[in-house]
Amino acid sequence: MSQQSWNTALYEEQHAFVWQYGESLLKLLAPKAGERIVDLGCGTGQLTAKIAESGAFVQGIDSSLAMISTAKSNYIDINFAVADGRNFHVEEPLDAVFSNAVLHWIKEPDAVINCVEKALKPGGRFVAEFGGKGNVGAIARALLSVLSEFGLKEPESLNPWYFPSIGEYALLLENHGFDVGYAVLFDRPTPLEGGSAGMVNWIEMFAGGFLSGLSPFVRSGAIDRVEECLRPALYRDGNWSADYRRIRVVAVKK
Ligand code: BEZ
Repeated sequence: MSQQSWNTALYEEQHAFVWQYGESLLKLLAPKAGERIVDLGCGTGQLTAKIAESGAFVQGIDSSLAMISTAKSNYIDINFAVADGRNFHVEEPLDAVFSNAVLHWIKEPDAVINCVEKALKPGGRFVAEFGGKGNVGAIARALLSVLSEFGLKEPESLNPWYFPSIGEYALLLENHGFDVGYAVLFDRPTPLEGGSAGMVNWIEMFAGGFLSGLSPFVRSGAIDRVEECLRPALYRDGNWSADYRRIRVVAVKK
């Protein structure tokens, strides 16, 4: 996934929704036996394994060594490798590149699309889902406003996420020679595990970049304050949800 460091045990234990929601994206991929497919940003490998069930030759790649080590121990028969989505190469052209919940971590979308285009056969497909424009909008606004309250200058510079609109991303794909046959942006409010600890867990796992410069004491005060800001909108009956908004695209290399 991204350059940030990952606690894969907590990731698998508390955030299984990441790949559980991604299963419906596999229908858009429609992998077939014998196809060559890369799962870009495979994390701990759950969706790579689902793709392998189709009989396709799949390789999972991820920039995180921790994710790849866990993926390899989860699925010993599947090929996984550490590789950067902005700079990966394949030995033989691919039928498809699949990517779930990772492209929002990479702020150089042109570099990713360039690599994907080079890796695909003509007619090969790029099937991706990630955070779209407005994704986790309430959470991001709360983080930015609390960091300002805590005296940080230009907190936006700490934002690790890239959430494009459909128009912006489709144009990038077209500029790289793809036909964009399908592109949607949709709200997907996502229940978080862990009851009253759900938002703190989510922030610790996914939004640490915003809080990286703070001492442990200030950090914990900032997270409490973010929770307080979000409670009216995202906490109900003892459970938190996150205001996810997804972009899905299917693009074919001409
Ligand atoms: C997402 O899947 O949309 C996402 C996850 C973590 C942080 C930001 C976005």
